[in-house]
Amino acid sequence: MTFRTGSDEETAAVGAVIAERITPPAVVMLIGDLGAGKTTLAKGLVAALGAAPAEDVLSPTFSLVHEYEGDPKVYHLDLYRLETVPEVETLGLEDLWDQRAVVIIEWGEKFDLALPGDRLEVHLKHGDGDSRIIRLISGPAAQPL
Ligand SMILES: Nc1ncnc2c1ncn2[C@@H]1O[C@H](COP(=O)(O)OP(=O)(O)OP(=O)(O)O)[C@@H](O)[C@H]1O
Ligand SMILES: [Mg+2]
Repeated sequence: MTFRTGSDEETAAVGAVIAERITPPAVVMLIGDLGAGKTTLAKGLVAALGAAPAEDVLSPTFSLVHEYEGDPKVYHLDLYRLETVPEVETLGLEDLWDQRAVVIIEWGEKFDLALPGDRLEVHLKHGDGDSRIIRLISGPAAQPL
């Protein structure tokens, strides 16, 4: 499934589409360059899950993990600043996979093998101007949704 968005709002709306398609426990990996719109999409996803208003969702670049108490609980991770698998292991992410939660991960592809294969991948690319091309791929076999 592929979307082309022309604004922050449209990218956040793709997050809402994803919210309707996932059933917790779920892992959503957001994959794309700096500024591709990962955090913007995460805002829409967290808001549509009812875990927090979009404006309260800030990039976890420095804190690594943000937790939103909702039903389901939502975790938003940004692994950009980490470099090694042992560093990732110190976060104790196994505890997250065991919960009935939605775990949203930016820059997780750096540590592919340390993360669950059963996941929804969201690939974001810059298009012309402010446009973004967003592709959803589900599961370990990377079958298009
Ligand atoms: N169509 C669009 N969709 C999403 N963001 C857009 C769009 N057009 C412009 N932008 C701008 O691009 C930037 C996207 O930033 P965002 O923090 O979401 O990216 P990111 O992929 O999370 O980056 P990082 O890798 O640094 O975490 C914002 O400044 C946003 O306003
Ligand atoms: Mg980001």
